[in-house]
Amino acid sequence: MAELAPSLLAADFTNLGEQINILNEEKIKYLHLDVMDGHFVPNISYGPSIIKQIRPLTTMVFDVHLMIDEPERYIEDFADAGSDTIMFHVEATKHPHRLLQQIKDLGCKAGITLNPGTPLEVLEYLMEDLDQILLMSVNPGFGGQSFIPQILNKIKKCRELIDSSGHDILLEVDGGVKTKNVKSIVDAGCDLVVSGSDVFGPDIRNKIHQYYKLI
Ligand code: DX5
Ligand code: ZN
Repeated sequence: MAELAPSLLAADFTNLGEQINILNEEKIKYLHLDVMDGHFVPNISYGPSIIKQIRPLTTMVFDVHLMIDEPERYIEDFADAGSDTIMFHVEATKHPHRLLQQIKDLGCKAGITLNPGTPLEVLEYLMEDLDQILLMSVNPGFGGQSFIPQILNKIKKCRELIDSSGHDILLEVDGGVKTKNVKSIVDAGCDLVVSGSDVFGPDIRNKIHQYYKLI
């Protein structure tokens, strides 16, 4: 069975504690946290201080997606804030292999994120150091965009790559996921689907139930 990772970016920040509580009550296991720096992506979201503040509110796995340049400069701050998994973009650092080790040395799981246009080949010599792969199905920076259909094939190929590697790597997909397309994404081989704007609508609980029926 696949899991749903709601993206906090789409939550109502005036009611953050309450919204996290709904996810707790619905037994959601992963919370996706989108960090944007206004450089790597043309938008700014939140950083380690917000993550630290919400850490005591939940035991959900903090699935931290760094959309920042030179992520190595901030890894320690995100680990200290209570991140469980830290994923950086391969396009944002010169030393992805070293960074994976640094994240693990800080006691977190380590993952790499690929923009829609980045080929899977960049993962070839990193597979044995990866806990997670995050495939972007929109260009990162904003919630509420449309799923790029070609990514379905990339998910299938990535699934094959993981299976043939023999390593235990979680495959996550992020961007434009809705109840109407989630089944095709999971069928393609995704383990963990991120959904922001579709989940944090008028009836969060009902939406979560719909997702779990489909995945
Ligand atoms: C995009 C973020 C996504 C985004 C998903 O840069 O990484 O996690 O919040 O939002 P939706 O589900 O609305 O596309
Ligand atoms: Zn994300």
